[in-house]
Amino acid sequence: MTEEGKKKLFSAVQPSGAVTIGNYIGAIKNFVTLQDEYDCIYAVADLHAITVRQDPAALRRNTLELMALFIACGIDPNKCILFVQSHVPAHCELTWVLNTIAYPGELSRMTQFKDKSAKHAENVNMGLMDYPVLMASDILLYQAALVPVGADQKQHLELTRDLAIRFNNRYSGTFTVPEGYIPKGNGARIMSLADPSRKMSKSDDNPNAFITMSDDRDTIIRKCKRAVTDSGNEVRFAEDKPGVSNLIAIYTAFTGKTIEETEREFAGKGYGDFKLAVGEAVADALAPVQAEKARLCKDKGYLNQVMKEGAEAASRIARKTLSKVYRKVGFYQGE
Ligand code: TYM
Repeated sequence: MTEEGKKKLFSAVQPSGAVTIGNYIGAIKNFVTLQDEYDCIYAVADLHAITVRQDPAALRRNTLELMALFIACGIDPNKCILFVQSHVPAHCELTWVLNTIAYPGELSRMTQFKDKSAKHAENVNMGLMDYPVLMASDILLYQAALVPVGADQKQHLELTRDLAIRFNNRYSGTFTVPEGYIPKGNGARIMSLADPSRKMSKSDDNPNAFITMSDDRDTIIRKCKRAVTDSGNEVRFAEDKPGVSNLIAIYTAFTGKTIEETEREFAGKGYGDFKLAVGEAVADALAPVQAEKARLCKDKGYLNQVMKEGAEAASRIARKTLSKVYRKVGFYQGE
């Protein structure tokens, strides 16, 4: 499944509800383009998902659907390892060890922990705080050199690097120190359609703020038409035009056109024409993905098989790293 010699790449997405076009543009799209250059390992991060309350039946369904979506987006299970995080116990096992070198101070300073604690004030649990250590374990178990993520994960990636360096210094070289692969320009942070000063998020209370990967054509076009734009009427990518720039980032991601081509295409046309074109481009691009995902979801046997083989392949790599870690920290392994 993975070839020797290529560098390893790891990333994951949480099965915590609808996947947005922000998740796609910031992360999943790159999962697909990087699969030939790297040995790619992609997980459905269900252990992370339960750090905020989940409906168990929905979590099970979302896990299967996310696996189908990965494949429908173009991730090839014959080239990459695709698995469900909770199927590989090494993730929790390494988390325990890394917890002993992670400090509460650095974890409580994480922006995402602070944001989620404010949002879920009734459920500020230890898992929420430990989220980045589990994420570090995900990455370090596979000795990943590269981690494609959106800009909001940059801080967690820096913590991963700190933990890897700290462990390597204390116990001698064990982990590869990973680099982030964050899309250039606005694709790293797709903004809310209702408020372009905020990140597009699946947990937004306003459903018009985000487009999901399963929204139908009419919904996508309606949401784009309603998107908040800026004063003026010129389709131009600029700092003082956050609404229009965000739509340009979405348009370029789905059409493959450049920013300049887009500006030229809509020169002399108003926001109305542009918003409609963005909606149509997104809907056109998502239609085949949605059809393929629906087909895959009906073939549970196939998805179960991909997950099973993925978990076995992932476990083989993960156990190797874990046993190295256990030896380094002094756990008796029957030598
Ligand atoms: P999750 O599911 O919250 O997000 C999945 C990916 O989508 C990116 N993303 C965005 N990119 C651009 N614009 C947006 N508005 C936007 N919203 C989300 C996120 O940056 C992420 O790359 N903690 C991870 C899941 C994870 C993980 C890992 C990632 C678990 N273990 C190990 C990398 C390596 C997360 O945020 O998932």
